[in-house]
Amino acid sequence: MPISDSAAEENETGQTLTATVVGGSGFAGGELLRLLAGHPNFDLTSATSREYAGKSVGSVHPNLRGTDLRFSDPEDLDSVDVLFSATPHGVSMAQIDEFSDSADTVVDLSADFRLNTEAQYDEWYDGHDAPEYLETAVYALPELHRDELPGADLIAGGGCNATATILGLYPLFEGDLLSGGEQIVADVKVGSSEGGASASKASSHAERSGVVRPYAPTGHRHEAEIEQELGTGVAFSAHAVDMVRGASATCHVFPDQPVSTGDLWGAFREAYDDEPFVRMTAGGSGVYRYPEPKAVAGTNYAEVGFEVDAENRRVVVFSAIDNLVKGTAGQAVHAVNVALGFEETAGLDFQGLHPVGSP
Ligand SMILES: NC(=O)c1ccc[n+]([C@@H]2O[C@H](COP(=O)([O-])OP(=O)(O)OC[C@H]3O[C@@H](n4cnc5c(N)ncnc54)[C@H](OP(=O)(O)O)[C@@H]3O)[C@@H](O)[C@H]2O)c1
Repeated sequence: MPISDSAAEENETGQTLTATVVGGSGFAGGELLRLLAGHPNFDLTSATSREYAGKSVGSVHPNLRGTDLRFSDPEDLDSVDVLFSATPHGVSMAQIDEFSDSADTVVDLSADFRLNTEAQYDEWYDGHDAPEYLETAVYALPELHRDELPGADLIAGGGCNATATILGLYPLFEGDLLSGGEQIVADVKVGSSEGGASASKASSHAERSGVVRPYAPTGHRHEAEIEQELGTGVAFSAHAVDMVRGASATCHVFPDQPVSTGDLWGAFREAYDDEPFVRMTAGGSGVYRYPEPKAVAGTNYAEVGFEVDAENRRVVVFSAIDNLVKGTAGQAVHAVNVALGFEETAGLDFQGLHPVGSP
């Protein structure tokens, strides 16, 4: 039974809903468990893992020691109000009928429902198993989709690199500072947790430590959702860097017409002044003058900022998030708060740490 707009209104009264996390032993799933444990409107009833079924959540996620929950097998899905899936690409699209039967609202963190059409999946992925769901899925970012989220049955969490890039560039489009045909280059640096908890040769400590390693320098799949959400193509490259958490986007924009610092302040303020999880960090004084993953590590905040390079007719836009929070689990909780009519910041309203080592 879908959660309707009227159910969303009822939830403002402080209702508690049951939730499960499929893929709870992974990095994104672990963040969901952490956030849901502190959420006033959710009762987390189960979390799945095939490898760790029967083991305590704390045995996999040491920050969650002391919680009673044990992993269950995903074959034995609970019937719940909200099912979060934090599984690899392909799993949710194959099981979406089952997920939808066992929950009123499904929130998927993978790439399986982010794109709007089957043609996009044919172009960027290996097609889609359940294209009939694409029409109703809502891209999770509340900053762009707040009006479509209430009552949504299927919410699709954005990619972390895409989220950083989109949040940085969005005010330029929303504020009509670009005509749409300009060249834009996005360079994202991202931490190792982006790759998930499973080991690979490239993610071993010896190979990963100290790197600034370009990967997917062209043709990265997140280009598809960036183009979808901004309405224009962005040339995108990513580097794997030596941090555990964090994604930092530096976007080089060459506007057709001159854009001043005042124009940018106006556009960014218009886009984000009322946003609870976007902070402006544009110049000023001190060490952290521009967006910086370290400053938002562990939180659902995005920092965005910019600088004008008049000589080169360039605008440089910066954006920083924690890939596991604003880039996935926190974004999902924020979206579901909006979808179900909870306090928008419920379960997410906390600051990060300072000083802190490499996030
Ligand atoms: N890491 C990030 O920064 C990030 C950011 C944005 C989006 N995401 C997306 O979030 C999803 C999870 O990413 P992650 O980094 O958390 O990956 P991960 O650490 O590898 O975790 C994957 C989880 O899915 C479970 N799983 C794998 N295959 C499954 C299957 N067939 N059926 C049921 N459960 C299965 C795994 O547990 P068992 O194998 O024990 O069942 C594990 O709990 C991915 O789609 C990823 O693209 C991740």
